[in-house]
Amino acid sequence: MSDRLGGQHVMITGGSRGIGAAIVEKALAEGARVSFIDIDLEESAGLAERLGARDRLFFGRGDVRSAADIAGFHEKAIVAFGPVTALVNNAGRNSYADPVAMTEQQWDDVFSVDLKSAWLMARAVLPSMIAARHGAIVNIASLHSELTYPGMFPYAAAKSGLVGLTRSLALEVGPHQIRVNALSPGYTETFLVKEFFEKSAPGLRARVLDAHPMGRMATPQEIANCAVFLISDEASFVTGANWQVDGGLGARFAG
Ligand SMILES: NC(=O)c1ccc[n+]([C@@H]2O[C@H](COP(=O)([O-])OP(=O)(O)OC[C@H]3O[C@@H](n4cnc5c(N)ncnc54)[C@H](O)[C@@H]3O)[C@@H](O)[C@H]2O)c1
Repeated sequence: MSDRLGGQHVMITGGSRGIGAAIVEKALAEGARVSFIDIDLEESAGLAERLGARDRLFFGRGDVRSAADIAGFHEKAIVAFGPVTALVNNAGRNSYADPVAMTEQQWDDVFSVDLKSAWLMARAVLPSMIAARHGAIVNIASLHSELTYPGMFPYAAAKSGLVGLTRSLALEVGPHQIRVNALSPGYTETFLVKEFFEKSAPGLRARVLDAHPMGRMATPQEIANCAVFLISDEASFVTGANWQVDGGLGARFAG
């Protein structure tokens, strides 16, 4: 175990599986105290059981669409581990809506999870970061913030908004020595990608792999490695950025 995040309290949303769970595990391995909020209590308890780091791991069931759930979770987490020094807004969902048939409620739900929750979480942790004149926030956006794919309306809009939020927030809190960055994964082997391929035409997975310069998708651990670097003090002059971790997929066009 390294001590790169020693002394830190890292808070993660959607930490029970996929990329979030990999960030939980990596932050623990780097010496942090880690708290995570997730809507799925059973999956969260299963992860905690597997990781076994009881003295440095705290989790709670909560919906990041709800300011009340966030406040309740934050209150308990800081009692356990002290003020949050780093926040990773990872919870997110895909969207496969039709732009004409989609209801306002469906629209609001996508934006509530993929965009608004990042602001609600930041609002909860920023007062203590500002007081400490130290802190880092990483928003897990997507390659869809730059390039997108038909049939996933309006996921790209929400994730592009999250990158815009990242820039705005970085400027607002920079004077307090708090850094805010986005990390945009490309295809990463998790439930969300499995769901995407299940909904798509047969053979798409093979074509997607073929389009990747390295012929493969990311593992959640490869995304977690970059997220942990961005919250660590090693990234002390990185702020307002959107790091694309896509295995070079965004570097090519059709042909
Ligand atoms: N997997 C990919 O290829 C990929 C690519 C680009 C971006 N992303 C982004 O990475 C993040 C993580 O994705 P993943 O692939 O690990 O997904 P996942 O579905 O495996 O995990 C998402 C986690 O968030 C939790 N969650 C969802 N809604 C929540 C809510 N309202 N409140 C609390 N928790 C909630 C889920 O229970 C789950 O544990 C998402 O923001 C996603 O948009 C993923």
